[in-house]
Amino acid sequence: EKIKVGLLVGSLRKESFNRKTAKYLMEIAPEGYSLELVEIGQLPFYNEDSEGDALPASYADFRKQIEGFDAFIFVTPEYNRSLPAVLKNAIDVASRPYGKSKWGGKPGAVISVSIGAIGGFGANHHLRQSLVFVDVPTMAQPEAYIGNAAKLFDEQGKLINEDTQKFLKGFMGAFEKWVARFVKK
Ligand code: FNR
Repeated sequence: EKIKVGLLVGSLRKESFNRKTAKYLMEIAPEGYSLELVEIGQLPFYNEDSEGDALPASYADFRKQIEGFDAFIFVTPEYNRSLPAVLKNAIDVASRPYGKSKWGGKPGAVISVSIGAIGGFGANHHLRQSLVFVDVPTMAQPEAYIGNAAKLFDEQGKLINEDTQKFLKGFMGAFEKWVARFVKK
């Protein structure tokens, strides 16, 4: 049985560099792994009053989907030196109701992708703060701050920068070893 990895992308933009990066990860998925993009843009802002009878169908579906994964990779832009609200919202939705978080104990990794030179460092680490709390043991090394993203893709949205390709292949190799510490299949 394959190890199922959920890819959560913190940008809803059609031409998102983060989404394109996630798509590249799917191309280079290690053997025995299946990587799947998880949609998060349909989730209303988390409101604790919605638990119970008023629970939006999208919450129930999303929680079930998250429950089905063995591991996660978060690929996020940086918005105003932090993670985009849409990604934080998705983490919040699957962390509730209290005591029934769908994240707990499953390994993860973070990649930040930015058009700027700092590579989304602020978003990367703010995201890690929440992952500590929802108990997603998150790979420490290699860190992935991908900067100058506008220069790395061709017109069709394919990642063509060879250094970045090489880096992400190494990243996935490390992620495979990280996941193997937690997931036995
Ligand atoms: C940005 N951007 C940005 N970039 C960065 O490196 N640090 C930042 O703090 C911000 N802040 C920020 C705020 C908001 C509201 C937007 C819309 C954008 C620029 C960002 O890196 C750029 O838009 C990327 O292209 C976003 O990623 P996607 O959508 O291409 O995946």
